[in-house]
Amino acid sequence: MLICLVGFMGSGKSYIGERLAKLMSYNFVDLDTYIADNEKLTINDIFQKEGENAFRSKENKYLKVLFNEKNTVIATGGGTPCFHNNMDLMCQNGITIYLYANNTILFSRLKKERMKRPLIANTTDKELFEIIETKVAERSPIYEQAEAIFEIKNLEDDKVIDDIYNFFTFYDS
Ligand code: S3P
Repeated sequence: MLICLVGFMGSGKSYIGERLAKLMSYNFVDLDTYIADNEKLTINDIFQKEGENAFRSKENKYLKVLFNEKNTVIATGGGTPCFHNNMDLMCQNGITIYLYANNTILFSRLKKERMKRPLIANTTDKELFEIIETKVAERSPIYEQAEAIFEIKNLEDDKVIDDIYNFFTFYDS
């Protein structure tokens, strides 16, 4: 089984994905890390040197490579499902899970983690909140095409990882 975690930046896709994979004895791949490792460039560098369109092409290319993996949890990037028909592709090739967190939670998380993320790197708090509001509204209909949605209420609360794990125990049987 291939599990694709989708959701906005800061929703905890990598944190949750890594722990979920461990629980399931699956492999874990963070798509951004996979792209950066293969391109030998940081995500910021790809955006800066080649632009967002080039990044989106690479994101699609490496996502498709990962469809060959089995027993793997993939933490996608926040924008992955919204470009190049990736959401349909993920639904066809794996099971998609949307990690939903409300805008206040996303803001408090992203406020501290802006620099690695080119879309929000140099924003003021006000701009950051506006970007979250606009992009979440724009992307939600796509995220919501996922097979299951789990709400992240408190990023330090690992209960959601057990909930997702239990969902897959049921799914498999
Ligand atoms: C992006 C999210 C990032 C990364 C890139 C673009 C987005 O991933 O792919 O900076 O468009 O929302 P994370 O969701 O892991 O931060």
